[in-house]
Amino acid sequence: LDEQLAVVVEEQVPVFSFTFGIPDFAEVKSAGATIVGTATTVGEARALEAAGVDVVVAQGWEAGGHRGTFERSPAEVEVGSLALVPQVVDAVSVPVLAAGGIMDGRGIAAALALGAGGASLGTAFLTASETATPPAFRRLLARTPAEGTRVSRVFSGREARLVRTDAVEELVGSGQPPAPFPLQLDLTRPIHLAGLQADDPSRLFALAGQGAALVREAAAADLVETLVAETERAISRLSGDPSG
Ligand SMILES: Cc1cc2nc3c(=O)[nH]c(=O)nc-3n(C[C@H](O)[C@H](O)[C@H](O)COP(=O)(O)O)c2cc1C
Repeated sequence: LDEQLAVVVEEQVPVFSFTFGIPDFAEVKSAGATIVGTATTVGEARALEAAGVDVVVAQGWEAGGHRGTFERSPAEVEVGSLALVPQVVDAVSVPVLAAGGIMDGRGIAAALALGAGGASLGTAFLTASETATPPAFRRLLARTPAEGTRVSRVFSGREARLVRTDAVEELVGSGQPPAPFPLQLDLTRPIHLAGLQADDPSRLFALAGQGAALVREAAAADLVETLVAETERAISRLSGDPSG
């Protein structure tokens, strides 16, 4: 971990993180919180730094869930983490967290190699045993190949990466324009809930990144320990240590 980030973790400093733009965070910052904002382009990273954030999350195109893009239409921004992270690292002086497609210690080591101070994982924790992720959703994630997700507005009205289930593909194929965010959720939520009730993954609207198939079932604390050990192993391997 980057030194500044390590202080935040070790001293359990409150964190205020946001996406979709730059809210007025002056009051939260003066109350002592560490401010974390999401960028999907170098321009957004610079704008966040100028606004006074303490940490920038560089969200690559691989990432699951809603796109944090705020300076233009998300559909125009398709930059993967491998290209985005080093360019954001070069553009700002605050620590950068890499996000998007990172599922294990190999990914975290890669993020550190790109100059990130740390990594932010979303999809990897959907199968942590403490989460409310239902069984059909968990099974779906484990069998979703790297090309099995897409970015679309059909879920909520705003661009989000989700699994290409039958329900998603039917809605995309219908050509019907989604209702504005978040009204579209009124249409998709009942389909999703019915899918869960029937234990039918094909009816789900499952937000997930391109690394979904690499999910693991484990308690969150155990998963974190595994990730740390894997990252250390990956780094030793790269440094030529044969035991790595
Ligand atoms: C199910 C799910 C829900 C998410 N919800 C949010 C959210 O509410 N706010 C947010 O800033 N990012 C959200 N994200 C995006 C994550 O913050 C992060 O950018 C992303 O998960 C990183 O990529 P990965 O999923 O490949 O690890 C979500 C991601 C997932 C998978």
